[in-house]
Amino acid sequence: MRENLFEKVTSLALRRGIFHPTAEIYRGSAGFYDLGPLGSLMKMNLINCWIDEFVKREFSYDVYLIDGSLILPYSVLKASGHADKFTDPKTECSSCRRLYRLDQLIEETRGVRAEGKTLEELAELSRQLGLKCPHCGGELEEVIHHSLMFKLNIGGLEEQAFLRPETAQNIFIDFKRIVYATRARIPFAVAQVGKSFRNEISPRQSIIRLREFSQMEIEAFIPPDDEKGPEGLADIGDTEIQILTREEQARGGADSIRIRARAAYEERIVPNKYLAYYLAKEVRFFKQLGIPPEKMRFRHLLPEETPHYSGGNFDLEVEFSFGWKEIVGNAYRRDYDLTVHSRHSGEDLSIEHDGRKVVPHVVEPSFGVERIIYAVLEYSYTEGLRDWPVLRLPRAISPIKAAILPLMDKEDLVNKAQETYRRLRCSRLPIYVVYDSKGSIGRRYARYDEVGANLCLTIDYQTLQDNTVTVRDRDTAEQERVPIDKLEENIFRDMHREQ
Ligand code: GAP
Repeated sequence: MRENLFEKVTSLALRRGIFHPTAEIYRGSAGFYDLGPLGSLMKMNLINCWIDEFVKREFSYDVYLIDGSLILPYSVLKASGHADKFTDPKTECSSCRRLYRLDQLIEETRGVRAEGKTLEELAELSRQLGLKCPHCGGELEEVIHHSLMFKLNIGGLEEQAFLRPETAQNIFIDFKRIVYATRARIPFAVAQVGKSFRNEISPRQSIIRLREFSQMEIEAFIPPDDEKGPEGLADIGDTEIQILTREEQARGGADSIRIRARAAYEERIVPNKYLAYYLAKEVRFFKQLGIPPEKMRFRHLLPEETPHYSGGNFDLEVEFSFGWKEIVGNAYRRDYDLTVHSRHSGEDLSIEHDGRKVVPHVVEPSFGVERIIYAVLEYSYTEGLRDWPVLRLPRAISPIKAAILPLMDKEDLVNKAQETYRRLRCSRLPIYVVYDSKGSIGRRYARYDEVGANLCLTIDYQTLQDNTVTVRDRDTAEQERVPIDKLEENIFRDMHREQ
């Protein structure tokens, strides 16, 4: 069933308005994708679920949401290190002129992990492996640094700037203002959802590696040397997580250990309780979105992949049909960001804590929206249930909460169905509904199963008599009759039900 899953999911996404290449009619440009009518609803629903879980219902500390600028002055990204050091190793085929990210090419063609190696190490490895252009067999040219930053000029060209490569930087540069405005005390967190831009050498796999993508990021500002941790860890610390340890990777193995999140901290695999807390939260969150816990692992990044200032990075990887891939980056950034911005801007970014001035440490979970949407699509795509594929999307994420279908294209049924549709469209509840009278009822069920509509509401002759409709469930195909004046509540309750 997972065979050709990537092709099936991307073809469905193209056909049904989930995502498609940007500027398709001009043959597009690699690494840019638009979300269509259903994809943009899915994205909005996903972001709402995430805000609900990680911002609104975070009881351990306050989380403030901001919405920062996508364009950041040169000085910000010079200070953060991105302007000079945010690069990937690039090589070019001397014959067909194709460009490659060398560490990825080594990994994909030879199965050797090469991320984080220096240019010299990569050049040597490539020589040892006798690497050639996989397309034409040509010689690969010297490997050089390729900046991932998109550079811009503001106004009359005199001021340099960049498109932000992560949403995180807005949070650090706004830190002082946020603390002043909210009177926040550590621990607290700041969250942001928005676009980030990276000039990737070889964007690929539809919406998995993009040049423009969306992130949902949190920077949790915590006391340095904190031993107490977040209160919420007491509730969810028993959550079992899988960790692919550094030792296992060094042995060339891929067997994860299973451990409770709290124990991962106690055994000092994870550097602090806040990080352990987020790892547990993430597993719970994605389980609700239909990703089985055994298909998720936290890969402890190897020393050469970890920034020098970091106290530990744990990528949440999901097993896709094409292999394991990161969907969330978790990092213990210590006081690096606030310290460098303080030094470069001349502003004091310390805060009072326990009667002294400290620079808070930072724990950062960083979620990629498009990769999560794709993961959810792969894990929802179901064959064998009916004669057609069913997208068993998490009910809260599903773009269509109910499709309203007159049994036949007859005037009295159509009038009643349209009246019901108008009524539900006017609902103040976040329930998106559609109307469809085209084709047989069986074909319409198939059409809405394929895009994961939670419910199909059929208006038939009984409706004209007793004002009830048939409500058909996407997953079980079971049907029940519900009075029209109860539909709104019914659809809303259904989208919050456990799957
Ligand atoms: N502020 C930390 C940060 O940006 P990251 O691991 O580089 O960390 C976080 O990115 C997440 O953003 C990744 O786990 C991934 O889901 C998403 N992401 C990163 N680069 C991406 C790209 N080129 N295309 C799509 N998503 C990407």
